[in-house]
Amino acid sequence: MTNLVISCLPGVLGKQGYINRLMTLVEERFGIHPSQQVQRKLERILDVLPDEALSEWVNQLIALPATDNEWLSLVESLTVHETYFFRDKPMMTMLREDILPSLINTKISQHSHHIRIWSAGCSTGEETYNIAMLILEILLAKGEAVWQTSGAVVTRPCWQIEILGTDVSRQVVRSAKEGIYANFGMGAFRDMTTDYWKYFEKHTNVNQGLVGVDYFQVHSSLKRFVSFRQHNLLAHLPPETNFDLVICRNVMIYFQVETKRQVQELFYRALDPNGVLILGGTDEQFWPERYERQFGRGGCWYVRK
Ligand SMILES: C[S@@+](CC[C@H](N)C(=O)[O-])C[C@H]1O[C@@H](n2cnc3c(N)ncnc32)[C@H](O)[C@@H]1O
Repeated sequence: MTNLVISCLPGVLGKQGYINRLMTLVEERFGIHPSQQVQRKLERILDVLPDEALSEWVNQLIALPATDNEWLSLVESLTVHETYFFRDKPMMTMLREDILPSLINTKISQHSHHIRIWSAGCSTGEETYNIAMLILEILLAKGEAVWQTSGAVVTRPCWQIEILGTDVSRQVVRSAKEGIYANFGMGAFRDMTTDYWKYFEKHTNVNQGLVGVDYFQVHSSLKRFVSFRQHNLLAHLPPETNFDLVICRNVMIYFQVETKRQVQELFYRALDPNGVLILGGTDEQFWPERYERQFGRGGCWYVRK
C-alpha cells in the first residue's frame, strides 16, 4: 500500500518532512515507533547526505519493498540490539526450573523427543544459545545427555532439538550464527555464572590492535541445536510453525498496541496447542482467551489452548 504514495511525494519536502515520512514508513513496515531516539538516529543518518541527494534517496527507498537491503540497512541503524546471556535472571530461573523441565518431562512421557523453540527478535543470539544451554543442563541431569572426553556435549540419539533465532537485522543474524562474544565491560557474559563456560571455547585475538583480547566462541556441539534466520515480525507469516515454545522479550517495547496485537497473532499461529509463550516482563498479552496464564518464580508464561 505504501508504494502507492511514491509518486505523490513532493520534490522538496524539507529534511523534517523526509524524516516524518520515513518514520511513518519504518513504523508501518517494521513496527518501530517513531520515538525521539529513533528520530535522532534518523537525523544523523540523513545528515551525511547532501541536500540534492536526499530527496532522490528517500524517493528511491520508498519505492522499494520492506525486504530490500536498503530498508534492512536503515532499520539496522535504527533498532536497539542490546542483549546478554541470562538477561532477566528471574525469568531465566523460571525457564530452567519450571518451563523447560515440564516441557522435557512431557516429551519423555509422550515418547516424543522433538523440541522446537523460536526466539523472536534474538539480536546477536545470546538468548537463543542460552535456551540451548538450559535444555542441555536439564538433559545432562537426567542422563539424557553426556559430555564426551572430546569436550563435546551429546544427547541420546532420540532427541531432536531445534531452536530457531530470528531477527529483522541481517547484521545481528550474521553475528549470531558466528556465536563469538567478547568478555569485557558490559559484555555478553555480564550475568552468566562460571558453570556455563564449558559451552564456549576461548580464543585470544592475535590481530593488530586487539592483541591479547580474549573472545569466546559457542561450542560446535551446542551450535548443532541452534539456527538463525532473518525475519520481520511484521511479516504476515511466522518463519515456521509447530513450536513448543516461543519467546519474545525486549522487542515489542518499541511497538504500538496495534502492532503488538498483530505480532502476537503471529506467535499464536506459530505455537502448537499446549505450546508456551514467554513475553518480556513489561509486555501485555492481548489474547487472554487463547491462553492459560501460569505463574512461576520469575513472572508468568502463557500456555496456548
Ligand atoms: C533489545 S534486542 C532484544 C534481544 C533479546 N530478545 C533479549 O531480550 O535480550 C531487540 C531486537 O529486536 C529486533 N527487532 C526490532 N524490530 C523487529 C521486527 N520488526 N522484526 C524482528 N525483529 C525486530 C531488533 O533488531 C533487535 O535485535
